[in-house]
Amino acid sequence: MDTLKELESIDLMDSEETSSQFYKDVVNGLKAPQKHLSSKYFYNEHGDILFQKIMNCKDYYLTRAEMDIFQNSSAQLADGIRANASAFDLIELGAGDATKTFHLLKYLKEQNTDFRYLPIDISGYILDILENNLFASLPNLSVCPIQGDYFEALQKACELSSNRKVILFLGANIGNMSPKESLNFCRKLSQNLTKGDRIIIGFDLKKNPATILKAYNDNEGFTSQFNLNLLVRINQELKGNFNIANFEHYQTYDPETGACKSYLVSLCKQEVTIGSETISFTQSESIFMEVSQKYALTEIEKMAFESGFKPILNCFDTHNYFVDAIWEVA
Ligand code: AVJ
Repeated sequence: MDTLKELESIDLMDSEETSSQFYKDVVNGLKAPQKHLSSKYFYNEHGDILFQKIMNCKDYYLTRAEMDIFQNSSAQLADGIRANASAFDLIELGAGDATKTFHLLKYLKEQNTDFRYLPIDISGYILDILENNLFASLPNLSVCPIQGDYFEALQKACELSSNRKVILFLGANIGNMSPKESLNFCRKLSQNLTKGDRIIIGFDLKKNPATILKAYNDNEGFTSQFNLNLLVRINQELKGNFNIANFEHYQTYDPETGACKSYLVSLCKQEVTIGSETISFTQSESIFMEVSQKYALTEIEKMAFESGFKPILNCFDTHNYFVDAIWEVA
C-alpha cells in the first residue's frame, strides 16, 4: 500500500510538477546554502489582492508618490517624451490597469499628440479590462495591447511599426532586480531600441531609512501576509506542507547599498516537504524573498550612461521620494 502511494506520487511528479518551472525554481532556491524564493511568484490571485492592499495602505508611499508625479507633472512628462513632433508608439512594460499612465494618456490626447499606446502585460485578462476601460474613457486613443513576456512583446511591437518608441517601466518594478541585473536589463532595452527612442523608468529613491523600512513593515501586516502567501501558494500548487505559523517576516534596509530586503525566518527547527523533496530548516534560518532596491540620483544617472542611454529629465513627487527618469537611447 505504501509503495503504491509512493509510486503514484512519483508518477504525478513526472507529469505535472517536475515539468513546472515554478517547482524547479522553488526546490533549487530552498536547497541553496542561503535559501531563497523569487518574488515574481508572489502574484497569484490572492497575492494580487494583497499587493492592492499594500498599495493602498498608509505606510507604503511608493504608489502614491508616482501617482502624484503622473497627476501633477503630466505636462512635464509629455514634454520629456515628445522630443520633436514626430509620431511615436508609447509602450508600457507591465501595464496592469494603467491607473497612473491614464493621466499621461489623457494629457497627450488633449494636446492632440500623434501616438499609439501599446500596453504589454503577462496577463491577457488585465489587458482586456484595460482596453475596455480606455475605450470608455478615451475613445479616440489608439490602443494595441500585446500579451506576453517583456522582450518578446517588445520585439513584436518593433515589427508592427517603425515609429519612434517611448517605453514606460513604472512602479519601481526595476527595484526587484539587483543593481547589476538592472544594468543588464537596461542594456538589453537600449539594444532592442533605436537611437532617439526614449524610456521613462520609475525608481524609488534613497531617503530616511525609517520611512523606507516602515513601507515594508506596514502596520496592517500586509507585507508580511504578502510574503507568507508564497508559502501558501507552494502548499496549494506544489503539494507543500509549510506550517505558516512557523515562519515570520523580517525586513532589512541598508542605507549604504540601498538594498531593502525581505526574509521569512523559521521560528523552529523543522522539515518541510514539497512534492517528493524534503527541506530542512534550522531554528532562525532565513529564506530571502525579495529585494526592493533604492537608488540615489547619481546612481540612476550612472546606470543610464552605462546602459547606452543619456538622461533627459527627472520628474519628482512633492516629497522627492520617487523619480520618473526620462532617458534617450544614445
Ligand atoms: C512592485 C516591486 C515595486 O518592491 O516595493 C511591495 C513590491 N513588495 N511590498 C516593491 C512590494 C512588498 C514592490 N514593487
